[in-house]
Formats: sequence, structure tokens, C-alpha cells
Amino acid sequence: MRQSAPIFYDKEWQAWMVFRYDDVERVSSEWKTFSSKSPQPLGREDFTQSLPQTDPPKHQSLRTLVQKVFTPHRVEAMESRITELTHELLDQMKQHKQVDLIQAFSSPLPIFVIGEILGVPVDQRSDFKRWSDGVLASDPTAIKNMADYFRQLLKERQSHPGQDLISDLIAAYEEGEKLTGQEVVDFCILLLTAGNETTTNLITNTIWCLHEHPDENQRLRNDLSLLPSAIEEVLRYYSPVTFLNRFTQVETQIGDQTIPTGQLVHPWLASANRDELHFDNASSFIIDREPNKHFAFGNGIHFCLGAPLTRLEAKIGVKALLEEFPNLRVDSKEPLKPLPNIRVHGLESLSV
Ligand code: HEM
Repeated sequence: MRQSAPIFYDKEWQAWMVFRYDDVERVSSEWKTFSSKSPQPLGREDFTQSLPQTDPPKHQSLRTLVQKVFTPHRVEAMESRITELTHELLDQMKQHKQVDLIQAFSSPLPIFVIGEILGVPVDQRSDFKRWSDGVLASDPTAIKNMADYFRQLLKERQSHPGQDLISDLIAAYEEGEKLTGQEVVDFCILLLTAGNETTTNLITNTIWCLHEHPDENQRLRNDLSLLPSAIEEVLRYYSPVTFLNRFTQVETQIGDQTIPTGQLVHPWLASANRDELHFDNASSFIIDREPNKHFAFGNGIHFCLGAPLTRLEAKIGVKALLEEFPNLRVDSKEPLKPLPNIRVHGLESLSV
């Protein structure tokens, strides 16, 4: 498509598809022309317009506030806890000869980590995981339960502040800034929806890529210092988020196409990340690719807020998996089933 139809209108999707790196770069970042704000309501109970669906100045004030509490320091401070949670899960895996890696590891890890960051007590972890799974499946009851739960946690932390992110968000709110109680709840749900499935897919996709590329797998096992760049290559090669939503604010031209005002535009990150004009041997998986300026985390003012956290989780999680299971292999008798939702790239299960 990058060559034959780099920008085209898809009648079925009623959206413009944008495939080339340079065009994706422009559409994802030029917010004055390509807004993130949906002209229609989101249609989800308990959600107001949250961070990714806003434009400046609202976006800037919300982002500045959440960046104050979701800091690199908070993420770094999670390193030892992520390691402990990883080993807890791997110890359970060791009791079985064969497991679904997603159920056993790649799905619970990010949920437990974000639960701890938010201040969910350990004994409520299983309810929290159940609701998170439901929130991802857009189950209205789970969304309501989760929102009620965060409202209750918010109330508790208002009277008894802790060291967690909710307490810090409340403090920011009470300093007279613009984050309302509803926005705190929305932000908590956003962290779940934006961060869990994506991180699950990143960890799963890493094992999937290594399975499909045995030479690169061996090279990585021989030198685990290549892991951070291998994870960047997985983000490029099997991008967990395949495309974004933008809405034209004015009539605009991309390449030889004129796009009217008020149209839905999908910049395809997964396609930009394979653009031959930007990446040598774009369809090859090369664990020490350099340079590797991919768009897996988006681009511009909405660049992923959770990128440092997800990179840390993937690094700790995959390193421990490779070290603890020197003979880890994918059961190739089971056909690999990609997730049905085309917006994300991952697998339904991965038997190892
Ligand atoms: C934004 C991808 C993990 C929180 C984004 C965007 C992308 C993305 C592409 C840009 C959306 C846009 O421009 O419309 C990913 C991928 C992840 C990941 C591939 C994992 C592999 C996480 C995690 C968190 C998180 C772990 C938090 C716990 C966010 C938030 C935004 C965002 C809050 C909105 C930022 C804004 O609008 O200013 N992410 N993400 N993400 N991500 Fe992530």
C-alpha cells in the first residue's frame, strides 16, 4: 500500500488511510490540522474526554498535571518490585511443563504493576485483574465496577493519603489545579486501558519474534546486553498499536489527495515502521538495528506517557524468562492465532 495507494479513502471504514512514514509523522503530530478530539461522544459510561482524546490547551494542562505524578523517578522506583512480581509469576510457571504464556505471564504482570503504582492492595489484586480484563473487553459492568472501585479508593486516599499515584493525583488536585475527582478516576482507567494490553502484547510479541527468528534468538541469548535494542526492534517489527485516530479540523492536502474537514484519518504506525525509505531491510527482524526511530509509541504531543514503564517491564520480564527458562520454546503444533482486533497486534494465546 505504501507504493500503490499511500493515502486512500476506505468506504467501509469511512476513514482515510495513511501509510508512509513521512505522512504518518505529520498526521500524528500536527494537531491543529489533525485533531485527537472525536466529534462524536465516546459513548462509554464513566469516561469523560480523557488525555488521548484532547487537544491543546486542555491536553497540555492535563498532561502537565499527570506528568508531575507519573514521573521517571516513580517508574525507576518500581524496578525491584517489577522484578519480584516477575519471579512470583515465573515460579508458578515452573510448576507446569506447558503453559499459555499470556495467561501465565504477559497479561498478569502489567496489571499487577499498574495496580501497585495506583495503590491497589495486594488482597484485591484478583478482583482488579478481573475488572481490568472486562474493561479491555469493553464490558460495561466491568467498566462501572472499576470506576466505582477507583471512586472508593479516591475517597479512602483523601482521608488517608499513601505513597501511591492516586494520593499524588489528589494532592495535585487539592493544590487548586484543574484535575477534578472524575478526572482522577478517568486517568486511572486510562492507565489500565492504554497500558495493559499493549504491554502484554509487547512481551508476547518478543517471544513470538524470537521464535520466528532462531538466529536472532541465539544471538540474543549469547549476549543479553542486546535486549533493550531487541525490544525496540519488536516494537517496530510487530507494533502493538497498529494505527491511531485523527480528525481533520480544516481541509488539507496529503500527497495528491485533498481531505475535507471533519474526516476520520488513520495514520498507520505499523506501516510507517516498515517503510523501506526509512529503514534498511525494513522487513527483516534485526535485534541490534541502529538507528531505529520507530513510531510504536506515537509521535508529538501525545507521545506515549507509559513508554519508560513498558520498556522497563519488558526488559525485566523477558530477561527473566530467557534466564529462568534456557529451553523455552513455542509449541509449534498449536497454530498461532492473531488477536481479532485489527487496531492491536498480538496473539490470543502462546503455548510455551
Ligand atoms: C499514548 C502506544 C504502553 C499510557 C500512546 C500512543 C501510542 C501508545 C501509540 C499515542 C496515541 C495517540 O497519539 O493518539 C503504547 C504501546 C505501549 C504503551 C505500544 C506498550 C508496548 C503504555 C503504558 C501506559 C501508557 C504502560 C501507562 C501505564 C499512555 C497514555 C497515553 C499514551 C496515558 C496518552 C498520552 C497523551 O495523550 O498525551 N501509547 N503505549 N501506555 N499511552 Fe501508551
